[in-house]
Amino acid sequence: MSAPTAYPDYSPGLQGIIAGITTISEIDVPTSSLTYRGINVHELAEHAVFEETAYLLLMGKLPNKTELAEFKARISNESAIPQPVIDALKLCPKNMHPMDKLKMAYSMLGAMDSDYEADPISHEANVRKAIRIVAKAANLVAAAHRINEGLDPISPDPELGIAANLMYTMKGEKPDEFVTKVMDASLTLYAEHGFNASTFACRVCVATLSDLYSGVVTGIGTLKGPLHGGANEEAMYMLMEIDKMGDAAKWTHDALASKKKIMGFGHREYRVGDSRAAYMSKLGKEIGQRVGDTHWGDIAETMERIMWDEKKLFPNVDFPSAYAYYLLGIPIPLYTPIFVVARTTGWCAHMIEQLDNNRLIRPTCIYEGPKVTEFVALENR
Ligand code: ACO
Repeated sequence: MSAPTAYPDYSPGLQGIIAGITTISEIDVPTSSLTYRGINVHELAEHAVFEETAYLLLMGKLPNKTELAEFKARISNESAIPQPVIDALKLCPKNMHPMDKLKMAYSMLGAMDSDYEADPISHEANVRKAIRIVAKAANLVAAAHRINEGLDPISPDPELGIAANLMYTMKGEKPDEFVTKVMDASLTLYAEHGFNASTFACRVCVATLSDLYSGVVTGIGTLKGPLHGGANEEAMYMLMEIDKMGDAAKWTHDALASKKKIMGFGHREYRVGDSRAAYMSKLGKEIGQRVGDTHWGDIAETMERIMWDEKKLFPNVDFPSAYAYYLLGIPIPLYTPIFVVARTTGWCAHMIEQLDNNRLIRPTCIYEGPKVTEFVALENR
């Protein structure tokens, strides 16, 4: 989108504006590649568990075996949800979206954190808070879901990692090795992505010297929207509508002709593709083959071909994640909350980076309202 000529310095949606410096991740647009602290995200998704990525993002380097074992133990020790939060989740209206429940839960958890009164710029306190935030996310998503279903929450198994525990505490059955690997990869791919809308919102929040929990609540609220993380849920509802209608090609052509936004396609940064989507698409098709249901992958392929041929638009990571999660039997309203489980790592890494070298984030705007005019007293209006 080009800036209006009257304001050459203005870029709508801040497109292309450099809003900060980071050492956390890099998007290379020409190659559509993504690295976390210099390591290709595909290598991490292929060879590492999610906790290794979490450690890398928060601590700045990959853990060795001892560091990873200690980190996993810390995550496990910090994963329990305090009873007042469980009680509050029980009071939530049944129709309340899990993302809104997460905002509520993290607001409460902030006040229960032993570092609640800590200096907001204390690096050590912020790392401790970050670990507690990350540790509780999967358990919170699962507990909120089970409570909504009238079931008792399940305690995470200390022998399992975050990915396996997410599935276990959600469904009540321990996942097999393949499902655990898919979740580890999915969480890794969703963990971090530069100055995306929610991460930027987190940074704006803490730059006022607010706190990490307030930043996470800000991030969750921002991720919820369908132009951002909420697209994975919307993409699945769309795929179900297409499936019901029975003609993916016609649906896609009609949607484009009516200028409909097709969820799970397009990206602000990438130009030719999102490598995370390619990776998830491969996994989604593999899950489809294992469970004997390849038709979601077929619908997806038809849409992807038409979107590229007609509009040069490609799927982003939310598109294949949607049908991959569906095939894993995950309820649709939990798709964006699972994104939160992953992205708490990137959000916290960015908020710590922001606070380690802080300056208030306060851009400016162009005023186009009425010229200065006289105040008219109430009785004369
Ligand atoms: N379906 C149809 N047309 C699209 C789509 C889409 N998904 N995405 C972009 N376009 C079209 C727009 O209509 C516009 O066309 P025009 O120039 O003829 O008006 C052009 O491409 C540019 O689109 P913008 O919306 O201006 O691009 P922007 O960079 O602002 O938006 C965004 C990027 C929000 C991701 C957009 O592509 C979109 O809405 N996609 C669908 C929602 C989605 O999948 N969001 C998830 C993003 S990834 C993530 O958050 C993890």
